[in-house]
Amino acid sequence: MYKVIKFPVRGDARGSLVAIEGLKDIPFEIKRVYYIFGTDPKEARGFHAHKELEQFGICVKGSCEVVFDDGKKKESFKLDAPHVGVTIPKMIWHEMYNFSEDCVFVVFANDIYRENDYIRNYDEYLKRVNYV
Ligand code: TYD
Repeated sequence: MYKVIKFPVRGDARGSLVAIEGLKDIPFEIKRVYYIFGTDPKEARGFHAHKELEQFGICVKGSCEVVFDDGKKKESFKLDAPHVGVTIPKMIWHEMYNFSEDCVFVVFANDIYRENDYIRNYDEYLKRVNYV
């Protein structure tokens, strides 16, 4: 349903650095990066699946919880380290909760923003994955 990817932290006396290369460290070429920050901890985001888009998300600061749903089962993962991220594969319904006030959630995607790639209705999602 999703994969956890842990990156080496290149630390020295000056501090820490994490590098992420498309096709090498994450399983696709990176075409877009966006980030979510300043989220009210009471708010939830996501609530959609993508028809084709492949994504990878990481909290570079703070924490949040991602719930993955393949139509049959749900799994959740807490992102709370700047060197551990998760894939958000196509056709996986996802929701994000419990953003810490300082959370900066960075997402790498393999395509530009296309609204027609979104499935925002859960019943439509279940139909498309053949569970209703
Ligand atoms: P939205 O998809 O609702 O965010 P989330 O799934 O995290 O809850 O996006 C919020 C707004 O930002 C919406 O108007 C679409 C716009 N947007 C872009 O213009 N480009 C992007 O790459 C993304 C992800 C969103």
